[in-house]
Amino acid sequence: MSPNNTRFSDRRALVTGSTGGLGVAIAKALAAEGAIVIVSGRDKARGDAVVADIRARGGRADFVAADLGAGEAEVRRLAEAAGPVDILVNNAGVWSLPLPTAEVSEEALLASYRTNVIAPFLLTAALAPAMARRGGGAVVNIGSITGLIGGDKSALYSSTKAAVHSLTKSWAAEYGPAGVRINAVAPGPIATDRALEAADHVGPVLARIPSRRMSTPEEVAAAVLFLAGDDAANIHGAVLSVDGGWAAV
Ligand SMILES: NC(=O)c1ccc[n+]([C@@H]2O[C@H](COP(=O)([O-])OP(=O)(O)OC[C@H]3O[C@@H](n4cnc5c(N)ncnc54)[C@H](OP(=O)(O)O)[C@@H]3O)[C@@H](O)[C@H]2O)c1
Repeated sequence: MSPNNTRFSDRRALVTGSTGGLGVAIAKALAAEGAIVIVSGRDKARGDAVVADIRARGGRADFVAADLGAGEAEVRRLAEAAGPVDILVNNAGVWSLPLPTAEVSEEALLASYRTNVIAPFLLTAALAPAMARRGGGAVVNIGSITGLIGGDKSALYSSTKAAVHSLTKSWAAEYGPAGVRINAVAPGPIATDRALEAADHVGPVLARIPSRRMSTPEEVAAAVLFLAGDDAANIHGAVLSVDGGWAAV
């Protein structure tokens, strides 16, 4: 993974939720292509391990701990600690097990919305204007297939991801004219530990997906890098599905 490719040479990239799962693949892929990556999450030990792995391969990375469910002050602290960034990947998210709407507590609603919607909202508000002042940048939000289609007992999680897709489009209108491109990736099931632990839930849906399989984290990361990079220079407000074709059928 030595950074011999210069697609993101010297660009600073903050990847939230990069202590585990998809975020690790995104952080490693950006670092392998020359970016200086700020790895973030709550778990310092896992964050330090990701940073060590990137550095061992010749890449550049630092860890900043942050709990994105803890409110505005914590989000602002992360934005300040990250410094001026050219790329923001709003990846951190919490999945909720399928539950009838009537059984979703207000506490669970607020917890999901804090991490999945309010944190990326506040982080983008903190970083996108500075990107614009420096001449441009890119934000990639991680949405979900569940934000594009309905799902039985999935109202809580799905609605947070639909909000992420909606924010992507409004922010494209707001920040695009200043050179900040805002796009989203909408993954279907990804073979992360989280999805593999929920195999009982994920397994049956694979039969409905044209590719008949989950995406690898690396396949989703490739789409994130495409949207973050100059090959997507005139792509604004897109929600790119990486779902084996699920949203199409
Ligand atoms: N896996 C899938 O099948 C799938 C499908 C579609 C979309 N997605 C989306 O893809 C993104 C990544 O999912 P994943 O499967 O990689 O999840 P994951 O394995 O559970 O990892 C989630 C990451 O987010 C971080 N995180 C969670 N809560 C946080 C908080 N309060 N503050 C800061 N960081 C927090 C975790 O770090 P710490 O534990 O260190 O805080 C971890 O690094 C999410 O937005 C998810 O909704 C996933």
